[in-house]
Amino acid sequence: MPSWVMGTKVIYFDNAATSGRKPVTVSHAICDCLKHANANPGRSGHSLSVKAAEIIYSCREILGELFNFPKTENIVLTKNATEALNLALYGGLKNGCEVITTSMEHNSVLRPLNHLHNKGIIRLYILSADGNGVVHPKQIKEAITEDTSLIVVTSASNVTGTKMDLQGIYHAAQEAGVKMLVDGAQGAGALRIDLKETPFDFLAVTGHKHLFGPQGTGALIIKNADDLDSFMRGGTGSQSEMTIHPDFPPDKYEAGTLNTPGYAGLVAGIRFILDEGLEKIVGYEHELTEYLLGKLADIEEIQLYAPDADRVATVSFNIQGTPPSDVAYFLDREWGICARSGLHCAPEAHKTLGTFSGGTIRFSFSFFNTKEEIDSAIEALKDFVKHR
Ligand code: ALA
Repeated sequence: MPSWVMGTKVIYFDNAATSGRKPVTVSHAICDCLKHANANPGRSGHSLSVKAAEIIYSCREILGELFNFPKTENIVLTKNATEALNLALYGGLKNGCEVITTSMEHNSVLRPLNHLHNKGIIRLYILSADGNGVVHPKQIKEAITEDTSLIVVTSASNVTGTKMDLQGIYHAAQEAGVKMLVDGAQGAGALRIDLKETPFDFLAVTGHKHLFGPQGTGALIIKNADDLDSFMRGGTGSQSEMTIHPDFPPDKYEAGTLNTPGYAGLVAGIRFILDEGLEKIVGYEHELTEYLLGKLADIEEIQLYAPDADRVATVSFNIQGTPPSDVAYFLDREWGICARSGLHCAPEAHKTLGTFSGGTIRFSFSFFNTKEEIDSAIEALKDFVKHR
């Protein structure tokens, strides 16, 4: 019996949107929390509340273990990567700040940055990626001025899977004394991120993609909490005698009741990754990706994007002369294959690739996909090409 929850016969290739299959321990942990620790963490002093608080604490601990970041009080739990990114941007950017980012970013980065830019609060520079979705550290280095205060870069594109050279960009940022925020939505659990080796100022992650947690979970990991203002204020269960928000992390950034059952699930998801080994998971996903790329190359009508990218297990392509939405509809209705088509909330990335505004078809794999599923998808694509 595989360790994931069996669904119907659907072939799920939309893991960049959310990991469709979770280790079975994830749903067990969520149910256990609801059954045996269903109280408000860090509020009441009774035993159930303490149990709930332990779950929250264990979530910070296991995130710290995965990313090699022992300062667990600086691991702020959020509802997703978008909230984590908004916290870093709205909490960190002040009037007159200059920000550099890339054309491969998701709207969760571009929209808050454009909002701040359009309000006249920051100056924004969006660097164009090349045809493989890469923005090179050299480009970043050249764009940095003495006014630059932040570089925001994705760990991997959600459109092409392209990995950014985080290490190279980090060194460019370091050299210039500029802070760096990494959008880890697609990279966390899909590539190695070690905050001891590359201590980014901020790492935003989501729980529900490659970390196998449920939706409604995420985190912002903050190198130095003095650098970042609160984004939300409210009840924390601490310093309740005060009507101003606590200024120590993580309470400084966490207002209101946390999603304890969700974080229980996230702990189980990350535990699965640590037990299996990240390298094994990443290696297997790479194998699947290479297998797909080899098979796609045999179909003449396929236009592959970012052909030479070093990528996570995400691939974008089109069938020449056909809207991607038609292909995705066919795959779903005729073959039970779930894939995402369109712009993937990353319009600038599609402008870079020349696929704006129809977008692409995207296959994104997880550890639970198989080569047999890819074979079926290839058969389905050939079927589409033959009968369109
Ligand atoms: N950002 C998610 C995706 O790429 C939803 O599909």
